[in-house]
Amino acid sequence: MTGAQVEEGVLGVPWSSGVRRRDDGVVEVGGLAVDALAAQHGTPAYVLDEADFRARARGYRTAFATAFAEVGTGVDVYYAGKALLTVAVARWAREEGLRVDTASGGELAVALRAGVPGAEIGLHGNNKSDAEILAALDAGVGRIIVDSLVEIDRVAALAASRGLVAPVMVRVTTGVHAGGHEYISTAHEDQKFGLSVNPGALDEGGDPPAMQALLAAARRPELHLLGIHSHIGSQILDPAGFEAAARVVLRLRAELAERTGVLVDEVDLGGGYGIAYLPGEVPLDPDRIAKDVASAVAAVCAELGTPLPRLSIEPGRAIVGPAGLTLYTVGTVKPVALDDGRVRTYVSVDGGMSDNIRPALYEAQYHAELVGRTSTAEPVLVRVVGKHCESGDIVVHEVRLPGDVRAGDLLAVAATGAYGRSMASNYNLLTRPPVVAVSGGASRVLVRRETVDDLLALDQG
Ligand code: LLP
Repeated sequence: MTGAQVEEGVLGVPWSSGVRRRDDGVVEVGGLAVDALAAQHGTPAYVLDEADFRARARGYRTAFATAFAEVGTGVDVYYAGKALLTVAVARWAREEGLRVDTASGGELAVALRAGVPGAEIGLHGNNKSDAEILAALDAGVGRIIVDSLVEIDRVAALAASRGLVAPVMVRVTTGVHAGGHEYISTAHEDQKFGLSVNPGALDEGGDPPAMQALLAAARRPELHLLGIHSHIGSQILDPAGFEAAARVVLRLRAELAERTGVLVDEVDLGGGYGIAYLPGEVPLDPDRIAKDVASAVAAVCAELGTPLPRLSIEPGRAIVGPAGLTLYTVGTVKPVALDDGRVRTYVSVDGGMSDNIRPALYEAQYHAELVGRTSTAEPVLVRVVGKHCESGDIVVHEVRLPGDVRAGDLLAVAATGAYGRSMASNYNLLTRPPVVAVSGGASRVLVRRETVDDLLALDQG
């Protein structure tokens, strides 16, 4: 899928595997032409290549299952629903053998609506409400990942109120700093997630917060301590971070066993597997990373003299990111003279920061192409911008498009499947685009386009 031998017409990285350009210049996704998609569903639209999603889900599951079987343990792959969760997407994940990781009561409700059994769902969050914890307990979720000392008491009390024992993991911060942008790196100390493994100013010589939490969770009869969880960041392209985090977590597990006799069964290494957003970028290869992580885990356990835990991982972006593209229609085209004498053509599309906040939030880079036709016009330097009343409303900072790009052209932005729709807003009261799945030459609306009536219905006057 990384495009070593790209079949003729197939656009390759960073597009989904089902994207190809026909001889007449029109691009199709999963066997359906984008002009037909635009005519049927309008623009902007999120388009998901179902076969690509399924192949990536299978790819992660098989790669990790194989690598960990080789070292003698099992692994569960949780699809991180925060990247994009709809009922159909949750079903696809389940059908491909994945479980579902949720980060709120809303995500939990969608996973349950999709028929994912509670036992195959995890619930995360640094500030879960009582209602979310109770919903998780009532659904019989397989794991609640606790994120603070106070939450241990809260989950225990709520479990007691239902006469249940809550299965929990403790989320620790390993100090391993990884990922594409400070806002998406989550295991360094100065942020809100998890419990630190390092003794710090708060500990006054006692145990670090992670150990305190594990000891507390292991003691509470209302909790079943399943294991330790670590998520180090997102859009990680260097596998070393996962191995370093695994080492820290496994040491902590061994220390807990030594002190309490409780050897927890599971270790979750979180998500964060990086993808290609631009042509020529090389995504993390699931086979390679699975092998590297499995051998690192096996080596550390051997060194510590502890049996291997069962592993889990939580990829989101790596499953759904490349499977999605956003289809826009070009409107205003405006050349602007730059200080250095160059000209930048501003190409405005019919969406923008409300359907993809990532360029504005993380300075994320994307790739775009004209997909409704080809052109022999000389390429020009383009910035693709949205229609919002804000100059930071940039969709693609810099890309070369044919110089005759004009109003009415269809333009697609690649690899928008993760964190596009899931972070979409109604800024300027734009209505959010539909999520349309394409498979075998047919399309299906997974989430319909919002209407102005939807917006007005929320406004109580
Ligand atoms: N597990 C946990 C505990 C997480 O916090 C996350 C992402 C994931 C799994 C999935 O990470 P992935 O494999 O998708 O990278 N909105 C940002 C990314 C922040 C994600 C936060 N947590 C973005 O648009 O890049």
